[in-house]
Amino acid sequence: MPSVVKINVLTVPEEMRRELEKRFAGRAGMVESADGFEWFELLRPVEGSDRYLVYTRWRSEEDFRRWQESRAFQAGHAQAAGEAAAQGHGHGQGHGHGHGQGGPAATDSELWTFEVVESTGPKQEG
Ligand code: HEM
Repeated sequence: MPSVVKINVLTVPEEMRRELEKRFAGRAGMVESADGFEWFELLRPVEGSDRYLVYTRWRSEEDFRRWQESRAFQAGHAQAAGEAAAQGHGHGQGHGHGHGQGGPAATDSELWTFEVVESTGPKQEG
């Protein structure tokens, strides 16, 4: 079965970039222990786009779904939710995350799904 790539596309206004990166820098680090998790990267746009890519790779769709329904996902996104609650931001309306100083860091999110057809890494010497 090919690995599955799940990319969360976050639209982040210029003035919220630093806040979003700070939150990811302080992330819970629970996804690393999720069954079937293979890789995570936060990709910063450098050419005129305002869309960050939260790149994750999984052994299967099922593994991703199990993580997305897990406490680890909630915990992995709770920090911002916690901050929002502490500042009395009406967390009720929003969902899970991207909040904190001055409300949500992302103004929009979209989930892209891909299957890994071909992949390679650097040539192993020796
Ligand atoms: C509404 C959609 C989403 C928004 C706004 C969002 C935003 C965020 C933010 C701000 C964090 C940093 C931690 C925090 O502040 O709590 C975070 C953590 C994370 N997000 Fe999301 N996220 C969303 C949905 C997703 C989805 C669908 C994926 C899967 C591709 C994903 C993957 C991750 C990962 C892997 C982490 C790190 C968790 C950990 O360290 O355990 N997020 N997200």
